[in-house]
Amino acid sequence: MLRPKKKKEKREKLSKDSIQRAKKLFSYLKPYRGLFTIGWVFLVLSSSIGLLFPILMGQLLGTGSEQPSSMQGALNLMNVDNVTTYAIALFIMFATQSFFSFFRIVIFTNVTENTLRDIRKDAFQQLIYMPMDFFNKNKVGELTSRLSADIEKLQETMRTTIAEFFRQLVLIIGSVAFLVYISPKLALIMLATVPVMAIVAVFFGRFIKKLSKRAQDEAAASNGIIEEALMGISNVKSFTNELFMIGKYVKTVDTIKSLNVKSGLWRGIFVSFLIFCMSGAIVVVVWQGLLMTQGPNPELSRGDFFTCMLLTIMMGMSFGSIPDMYASIQKAIGATENLMNIIDSKNEKALLTGTLKPEITGAVCFEKVSFNYPQRQDVSVLKALDFNVTKNQTIALVGSSGAGKSTIASLLLNYYPVTQGSIQFDGVSISDIETEHLRSHMAIVPQEVILFGGSIQDNISFGNIEATAEQIIEAAKQANAWEFISKFPEGLGTEVGDRGIQLSGGQKQRIAIARAILKDPKILILDEATSALDSESEQLVQEALNKLMEGRTSFVIAHRLSTIRKADNIFVIDEGMIKETGKHDDLIASNGIYANLVELQGVNALN
Ligand SMILES: Nc1ncnc2c1ncn2[C@@H]1O[C@H](COP(=O)(O)OP(=O)(O)OP(=O)(O)O)[C@@H](O)[C@H]1O
Ligand SMILES: [Mg+2]
Repeated sequence: MLRPKKKKEKREKLSKDSIQRAKKLFSYLKPYRGLFTIGWVFLVLSSSIGLLFPILMGQLLGTGSEQPSSMQGALNLMNVDNVTTYAIALFIMFATQSFFSFFRIVIFTNVTENTLRDIRKDAFQQLIYMPMDFFNKNKVGELTSRLSADIEKLQETMRTTIAEFFRQLVLIIGSVAFLVYISPKLALIMLATVPVMAIVAVFFGRFIKKLSKRAQDEAAASNGIIEEALMGISNVKSFTNELFMIGKYVKTVDTIKSLNVKSGLWRGIFVSFLIFCMSGAIVVVVWQGLLMTQGPNPELSRGDFFTCMLLTIMMGMSFGSIPDMYASIQKAIGATENLMNIIDSKNEKALLTGTLKPEITGAVCFEKVSFNYPQRQDVSVLKALDFNVTKNQTIALVGSSGAGKSTIASLLLNYYPVTQGSIQFDGVSISDIETEHLRSHMAIVPQEVILFGGSIQDNISFGNIEATAEQIIEAAKQANAWEFISKFPEGLGTEVGDRGIQLSGGQKQRIAIARAILKDPKILILDEATSALDSESEQLVQEALNKLMEGRTSFVIAHRLSTIRKADNIFVIDEGMIKETGKHDDLIASNGIYANLVELQGVNALN
């Protein structure tokens, strides 16, 4: 199964460097800063208004009991009025808060989605322009899953977490300020208990989560053992290793048990702790608070007492939610760092600095070209390769597997810079030619054709996006592809790829050939283009290729003698060097590597 390996969740620390990268994120926010600022104003307003709730509510709750002691019965009417006033004030508060929150959410989502769209676009643009070497180093599956995971983390954080984080901070700071204002003494008692308990509870909870995570991992491992044993059951039986496998399984099962029992113990402690300490803390605060409202000269009115209680509860909840939010902000900063790393890295546009646009006629010269793949410096793949190809020649590259034939094709396309020596097209060094210009004069028909999702027409016109329908049909005809395309009910509009119909290997290749014909390149590269075909489709493909090769320089990496025979020159590549050159008959006559290859592979028989 090709599931991308789960990366060990590295704990991203907030370092200077990562903050630096996160700063780049702000450059993405810039175009939307006006809207974003308005969003923040709404956020500040709705958060501050949230603070009014404990105050108004506390006073509302306190009005009834407070009044008789400080006010005369004659003011009873006023008393009623007070309650109503507070209630109305509360309603207005909620209404305003909902109004602000609505706009805050809409605006934050808007800004986030716009920003992410820009980041997605830039990241993809960056990826598609990355040099080939990048794709050797990074697995595509891992790259795409990491990219989408990173964007998801960023999305959640930008859309809600930052706003929530800020709101909770406002609530905490505001609560403390009001508490201190109302009663410094009660504030002190409260601060010494509730936040401490809340934080301890959160970290305790995390620790327990970690324990059960380990148990889960272990469970996955034990399932792996079952799968392995049952899939390879005949191995297990034939080697009579049943007891060994059972032993292996029992060991992991034991570990799961111990881990779960251990986490159960801690969970027990945790829950008792929560019940005891949290309720204890609340009892202490309520007890002390109530004491302050007693006596002939109470330090605290009833309303203020209720307000303090509500502020305390609100603050406890805010404290509890902060560590998780902080963690997810940290993760988002890590994600931003990854994304910005991709966006900041050097792509082909930055690396390939050639600017010349000489006329490319198809004359190619390799001058002492040595090459090793960037990530494998120790293995030299091509060694001082020297050859000269004039325009319209057909060159066959022949050699055993791993000799370096496809590597030559990659170098022609400027996928990698040569390690030593130089490649010239019409006398101009490849490093001076603008790569897009060069590639626009080349086409490759690879061994394994990959069609894009879309219609056959889309796939052929990939060779020349501006081609007309007539040109596409003409190309399909020349590629011997029209005959099968026209039989489909939807013709050129037939969907292919993952969601469309499946084409055979030969059909796909003829579409790739049509694509190359449409491009009308000066230099054509065919990488073992016919090796996977039965002889009937091979003949159709071969005919198409012969037409395609006319009037251009062709490099054919071929196993088929029919192609090789027609070649103007055959290069026999062995261990990264050209060991023999010449025409088929000469090479056979000289009885060297080529003659040996032909004999060994029996390619003669196919002709
Ligand atoms: N992307 C790569 N990174 C590192 N080494 C590579 C890479 N591609 C090929 N090689 C190595 O370079 C050498 C030549 O490979 P190349 O693909 O050019 O061989 P080939 O002649 O096309 O073989 P085949 O006939 O099997 O396709 C091989 O030893 C291979 O291991
Ligand atoms: Mg190859």
